[in-house]
Amino acid sequence: MKTYKLAIAGGGSTYTPGIVRSLMDRLEDLPLSELRFYDIDGERQSKVVIAAKAVISEYTDRINIVETTDPQVAFDDVDFVFAQMRVGKYAMRELDEKIPLSHNVVGQETCGPGGLAYGLRTIFPMVELIDFVEKYAKPSCWIVNYSNPASIVAEGVRKLRPHARVINICDMPVATMRNMSAILGVEREELEVDYFGLNHFGWFTKVKVDGVDRLPELREHIYQYGLLTEDVSKIDYRHADSSWIKTFKNIKLIMDYFPDYIPNPYLQYYFFPDYIVETSNKEYTRANEVMDGREKSLFETVKNYEETGVLADEFHVGVHGIFIVDVTVSLAKNLAKRYLVMVENNGTIPNLPANAMVEVPCLITSKGPVPEYVGEIPYFHQAMIEQQLASEKILVEAITEGSYEKALQAFTLNKTFPSARVAKAVLDDLIEANKEYWPTLNKKYKEGV
Ligand code: NAD
Ligand code: G6P
Ligand code: MN
Repeated sequence: MKTYKLAIAGGGSTYTPGIVRSLMDRLEDLPLSELRFYDIDGERQSKVVIAAKAVISEYTDRINIVETTDPQVAFDDVDFVFAQMRVGKYAMRELDEKIPLSHNVVGQETCGPGGLAYGLRTIFPMVELIDFVEKYAKPSCWIVNYSNPASIVAEGVRKLRPHARVINICDMPVATMRNMSAILGVEREELEVDYFGLNHFGWFTKVKVDGVDRLPELREHIYQYGLLTEDVSKIDYRHADSSWIKTFKNIKLIMDYFPDYIPNPYLQYYFFPDYIVETSNKEYTRANEVMDGREKSLFETVKNYEETGVLADEFHVGVHGIFIVDVTVSLAKNLAKRYLVMVENNGTIPNLPANAMVEVPCLITSKGPVPEYVGEIPYFHQAMIEQQLASEKILVEAITEGSYEKALQAFTLNKTFPSARVAKAVLDDLIEANKEYWPTLNKKYKEGV
């Protein structure tokens, strides 16, 4: 029987125990001989690995487990790498959210200035990870990447390491489909969706069950409840926090105005930045909710497990863990299963640039994702996407060229900003906060306004 060696980069992530449970549930499809945990923060990782090992022990004692901060030990001869790094950890996420909010601009992890700031931190560590993997892993190794901001990471990788075997994925489409299937009373696997866009910036255009488009039915439900089941507890517990409930409800606001397609929930930040700011708590953002919730509970569970031998949380898998394993099984076994992932456009959407990293249905083969032809998209959506794409592409240029001007262009083009003046003020504060992480950005222009 063929077995695989798999490494998790960002082993200290709060998602690690859930992903490990998902891997364990699928050992028949993806038999593992080794599981390696790699992180630059060994102390954090070692706590998380205690939980991961407890999960593994419920299934098997035949997997060799390695925990390391040494990239060679982590990646030597591996078949797959799961990447889930948060560069700067929650401390920097909190600033990504709070600094823009202090200027009355959207404060979010992956959208608006917070996402741009996180992108400026993540591109070079991601490239470094790719280089480690290329140096030590099997030549056939695939990196399946969740590290955010996935859209900007995908563009950075496309530009700086065009031949790398990286597949960038996001759980938001599957999470949205989870809600859709609960509303329709079918299994998520029964849905076949059509979708186009960039990561965290796209639309579902068809939601088919047995060949019948059920989007009209979902639209009627959304007009009343948003993209939520009447019984919220049916939703995955990760998305049961109040901020996520609000996000799924806000789909209604978008569809009241633009009813054609079902938007990715993250589009709320671009359609209604003013409303989002008005309804945000500037002192207590999602980073605080996560630190006080998921992170705290993980470390308490580990402490309690060490004291009592009882694992209080089962680390329920959810779509997040299921999806990364699904994609990997399809890569490993050349199953050509159809999933929404990020891929270079190359004519898939003819009225978007060929070199855009788009999120569309792809067949996942052992050679990588093969996009399904989407066709031309309406001018409105094309225009919105082009503006966001330009912001992200220019940001990557700012990173590679060390250009303040380009960073300012990228911020100004982002639809969350009311003016270049506000974009500059937020950028300047973020430069200060990210001194340890960002490349130096050189100014070439005169101070204005
Ligand atoms: P977390 O802070 O709990 O974990 C991230 C880990 O990454 C930390 O242990 C940190 O030390 C480590 N890390 C940072 N820089 C690193 C580097 N250069 N090399 C190796 N490890 C490094 O964060 P989390 O909330 O669990 O999220 C983990 C990641 O997954 C984030 O990037 C998050 O945005 C992403 N995520 C993406 C999706 C998606 O849909 N694409 C979904 C959920 C989470
Ligand atoms: C969704 C998105 C991810 C994002 C995550 C944040 O799953 O697809 O890209 O990282 O939400 O979740 P959190 O619970 O950390 O706010
Ligand atoms: Mn995502």
